[in-house]
Amino acid sequence: MGFEKKILCIGAGYVGGPTMAMIAHKCPQYRVTIVDINPDRIAQWNSDNLPIYEPGLDKVVKEARGKNLFFSTEIEKGIRESEIIFVSVNTPTKTFGAGAGMAADLQYWDKTARQIREHSASHKIIVEKSTLPVKTAQAMERILTINDNAVRFDVLSNPEFLAEGTAIKDLEDPDRVLIGSRETPSGLKARNELVEIYANWIPRERIITSNIWSSELSKLVANAFLAQRISSINSISALCEKTDAEITEVARAVGMDRRVGDKFLNASIGFGGSCFKKDILNLVYLCRYYDLKEVAQYWEGVVKINEYQKERFVLNMLNAMFNTLAGKRVCLFGFAFKANTGDTRESPAIFVAKRLLEEKAELVITDPQALDNAMRDLEGVDGKVSFNEEPYVAVDGCDAVAVMTEWDVYTGLDFERIYRSMAKPAFIFDGRNILDHKGLYEIGFNVFPIGKPALTHF
Ligand code: UDX
Ligand code: UDX
Repeated sequence: MGFEKKILCIGAGYVGGPTMAMIAHKCPQYRVTIVDINPDRIAQWNSDNLPIYEPGLDKVVKEARGKNLFFSTEIEKGIRESEIIFVSVNTPTKTFGAGAGMAADLQYWDKTARQIREHSASHKIIVEKSTLPVKTAQAMERILTINDNAVRFDVLSNPEFLAEGTAIKDLEDPDRVLIGSRETPSGLKARNELVEIYANWIPRERIITSNIWSSELSKLVANAFLAQRISSINSISALCEKTDAEITEVARAVGMDRRVGDKFLNASIGFGGSCFKKDILNLVYLCRYYDLKEVAQYWEGVVKINEYQKERFVLNMLNAMFNTLAGKRVCLFGFAFKANTGDTRESPAIFVAKRLLEEKAELVITDPQALDNAMRDLEGVDGKVSFNEEPYVAVDGCDAVAVMTEWDVYTGLDFERIYRSMAKPAFIFDGRNILDHKGLYEIGFNVFPIGKPALTHF
């Protein structure tokens, strides 16, 4: 069929799926195949009901699917037939052995590298897309070159900077694309090949190249810096609640300094998602490995503040509701780790839900996209939990609402109606500071924002 290039991606997840769909969409001259060990996931990618929710993704997939974008479980065939292989399998935090709870679990990587080696008969470019500890490329190279069949591999690092909920926009118009390689003639040649793929739609000045270790480290550091901003503002939110300062006013004043900038300064119940915590812990582990104790502690502080913020939120609820939640009904508005995604990995809502159940509260959970994941996350947890997609039904008869996710729909609700249907006194804990606190107070609610004085009728 005369495609210019044959590209494969191993791992059809939140990163692999959207990224490859965008390459196929922008480059009709390439054939893009995505493979995964999970047949259900592949079946979903081939259906009308894609396995992940991401604004704009449906359109991009449906336009390219069957033309130059294919989803399949035939990993070995895919390897044999392609020239460029992206690897986007998951690299969760290790749960066992050395580095448990901190280092990345590289078993899927290792297995994938061996699979590539076994089924390759010609030169291939391997692109690391998953976030990995620095020097993984080296391990990958070693596994790949151990064979004596003389097949050559070039390993590149091309970290993902897309954020869920805005993945399509981030892929279409990224701040930068980073490609790291070995600085050998063949490494540089491979790097240029990948640059040419992205140059189909991204201005060249935004495609930056570096050595492979810088590229791997930059991804961890970028996420650590972003998470650090949230932990910084969240730490100050605690101080604001003790004084008469208001966190949004402080954030505005600080963020207007152009050296600081105004993004990622929204105080919240804490950051979630599959990347931030994992990547920081990875960085901490790396620093410890190199005996940089102080540096490790510094970054570990970012994760600790995040844990503290979630616990603080629950303790504030307990305290406000007369030090007992037993038998009280709490409605969680949102369960996803952020708006516009159904993803709940590391969502602060999981922590809050479990803690509230420990306090023997009854939970009603509502979310426009994440209820299936929420049910899985809370499977087997003791206590009364129910789920309802319709916020007005979910909140009926509840003592409190706790906003977990900043979904737009929650700002447009009729809170007079909600107030009427709730038990009294009615409480709102706005973990995202998205609601009109004064308006709610006037309706009759006792309102507890993050980092601002509470508005109560007592
Ligand atoms: C990816 C990266 O893997 C992670 O390191 C990065 O920080 C974020 O992006 P994500 O796409 O969100 O993770 O993960 P997930 O949605 O779990 O997708 C990974 C896919 O790889 C799964 O569908 C899984 O079935 C597949 N997989 C895993 C394989 O195909 N082969 C394996 O050996 C392991
Ligand atoms: C992040 C990075 O942004 C992205 O570049 C990287 O490739 C993957 O990890 P993601 O996890 O999808 O993306 O979401 P992000 O938008 O960064 O949000 C992470 C968490 O921080 C969410 O729980 C979000 O609600 C929270 N957050 C974000 C805040 O609490 N306050 C803010 O001001 C911003």
